[in-house]
Parts: sequence; structure tokens; C-alpha cells
Amino acid sequence: MNIAVFASGKGTNLSAIIRQVKKGSLKVNIALMVTDNPKAPAISRARRAGVKVVIITPKDFPDKKSFEAEVIDQLKQNNVDLVVLAGFMLILGPNLISAYKDKIINIHPALLPSFKGASAIKDALDYGVKLTGVTVHFVDEKIDNGPIIMQEPVKIEEKDSLEILEKKIHRLEHKIYPKAIGLLAENRFKIENRKVVIL
Ligand code: GAR
Repeated sequence: MNIAVFASGKGTNLSAIIRQVKKGSLKVNIALMVTDNPKAPAISRARRAGVKVVIITPKDFPDKKSFEAEVIDQLKQNNVDLVVLAGFMLILGPNLISAYKDKIINIHPALLPSFKGASAIKDALDYGVKLTGVTVHFVDEKIDNGPIIMQEPVKIEEKDSLEILEKKIHRLEHKIYPKAIGLLAENRFKIENRKVVIL
């Protein structure tokens, strides 16, 4: 299976995926890494690992539709079967989502449907929940909404700072994202209504 990893920032999840592929425990081919941010540290992580990088910046396109047409073109040219969002901070539009229906997944640093949005770790900490976690889910037209593939909890201790909680969340993300991708690569799932059944 050919995957494309989309990342806008640091790229630690990208590196975790690369590690498992190199170890042979995740049997996929990382066909390319797509970023909307020419300054993303994820770019050098990809290049160091020999992963092809495609930089597509929205400001080079007149509108979202033509930006997404270029993204779709790149995915098709590289025979991508699964799009893996790993800290990709642009909201995907309907053209891309319908072109890759049930073939786009995302990792979110909270237990959805709680704490949707771009600052989920801080929001959970500020709210005072005792338990948060990580969610891997399919991407649909609504934000942080699609069918949930995998979820794991993280306990918030009273002494936890934002930095500590971020570390706990990221450590867990790096463990479960490659696992979830592996399940999909082996086709070990079906979607019933919005429930993902692991086979
Ligand atoms: C991850 O924690 C991911 O869950 C989060 O961005 C971070 C990217 O880190 N995504 C979202 O908040 C999406 N709403 P990384 O670039 O080091 O992989």
C-alpha cells in the first residue's frame, strides 16, 4: 500500500511512521510527504529518510479548489492509496475528501468528540478533565468528526504542566498511529454506519 503523509509542522509522527516502516513492522510504502508549509521541520525529517517531499502552498493558488486539484494530482501521480494526516493544519475541502473517501485518516490529540480543534491538549488541561488521550479517525466533511478507528487514554495528573501532557500525548501518538495504519494496510476493518469494526 502506498501512503502519503501530510504534515505542516514538526513531523514527529511522520518520523514515528518512518521508523516502523524501516523496522519492517509497518508494511507500507511512504510514497510521499506533502506539506503546505515550506518551513516545516517535517521536510528535513522526510528528506533525511529518503522520502519524496512535495510542497504545495495555498498562496500559490487562486482558491482552495485549485490548490486541492494540485494535491489530488500529486496523489494520483504517486499512486497513493491512503492519506495520513499527521499534524496537517489545513482543513481539507470537499473535492479532496470525496476523491479519497474513507482513504484519509487523521490523528487528534484528545478523545474525540471532546476537545476538537487546533489546541486540544491545552484545552483538555485547562478544562480540568482527569483523562484525555489520542484518537485516530477517518476524515469526513466535518472537522474532527469522522468514524473512529482507534482511541487510547492518557491520565492527567494534578502536577502535569502543558509540556508534560504534550510529551505523554505525543509518546502515545507515536505508538498508535503506525498500528492504526497497519490495520488499514491489511484491510482489517469495515465501517458500519459510523462504527469502525476491526476484523
Ligand atoms: C500532533 O500532536 C497531532 O495530534 C496534532 O498535531 C501534532 C503534530 O505533531 N494534530 C492536531 O492537533 C490536528 N487537529 P507532529 O508534527 O510532531 O507529528
